[in-house]
Amino acid sequence: MGLRGQRVVVLGGTSGIGLAVAEGAAAEGAEVVVASRRQENVDAALKQLPQDARGEVLDTTDEAAVRAFFERLGAFDHLVYTAGETLMLESVAETGLARAQRFLDTRLWGAYAAVRYGAGSVREGGSVVLTTGTAGHRPLPGSSVVSALCGAMEALTRALAVELAPVRVNVVAPGLVRTELWRELPEAEREGLYAASATSLPVGRVGEPADVAEAYLYLMRGGYSTGSVVVVDGGGTLA
Ligand SMILES: NC(=O)c1ccc[n+]([C@@H]2O[C@H](COP(=O)([O-])OP(=O)(O)OC[C@H]3O[C@@H](n4cnc5c(N)ncnc54)[C@H](OP(=O)(O)O)[C@@H]3O)[C@@H](O)[C@H]2O)c1
Repeated sequence: MGLRGQRVVVLGGTSGIGLAVAEGAAAEGAEVVVASRRQENVDAALKQLPQDARGEVLDTTDEAAVRAFFERLGAFDHLVYTAGETLMLESVAETGLARAQRFLDTRLWGAYAAVRYGAGSVREGGSVVLTTGTAGHRPLPGSSVVSALCGAMEALTRALAVELAPVRVNVVAPGLVRTELWRELPEAEREGLYAASATSLPVGRVGEPADVAEAYLYLMRGGYSTGSVVVVDGGGTLA
């Protein structure tokens, strides 16, 4: 049965992991709604999704816009949050407080706003799936802010699972995945990162969006999971 007939909302669903989640849910017969900041990304995503998919422009750092989005949307079954920007890897010495705080705006506070205004519209049996990363468990030099964010997302997920029950709340922790997130790196550097990671990862390759999308689909379908962190990292936390 999968997600047939269910309504799945993916914030950050116009690219990479979020778009793969929307495609996977639609392939199971769900009606999907994707949203992100740029109209061209929304238009491009809708070309890849079935005709009944809907798309909207939404910046999740704009609280009033998030609230209005959910008021317009009405009831749905699953909220997926994959909105995020290029990772900030730089030392504490280089990173002022304002910049560190800004980095949490989309991934932490955007997710918080989405849950605050969206969770009340989740139908019985539905769920929320958020996104973190593996840097909380396996930090690198320069990952302090990212690691703090990842720890916060895991703790937020557990707290929401308790507070919002019976709505289930889970989080996916992807390892390195080949997406537009890395577009700001010069191509040679980006391909070097992928090649070096592929060599060090137990699975021998970097992740593709569809690899990670499977975890979101599982958490939406799986009625017995809540407060869970599902790591999909090619063994990166072991490498
Ligand atoms: N790729 C990886 O290696 C990796 C590893 C660990 C964790 N993650 C996390 O996984 C999530 C998905 O990343 P991805 O790799 O799929 O990246 P991606 O391909 O760049 O997709 C990010 C999506 O978020 C949207 N977005 C960004 N800021 C937004 C905002 N303020 N409001 C609404 N939408 C926003 C983008 O569209 P617009 O530009 O149109 O807004 C895009 O649709 C992110 O949280 C990322 O940090 C990724």
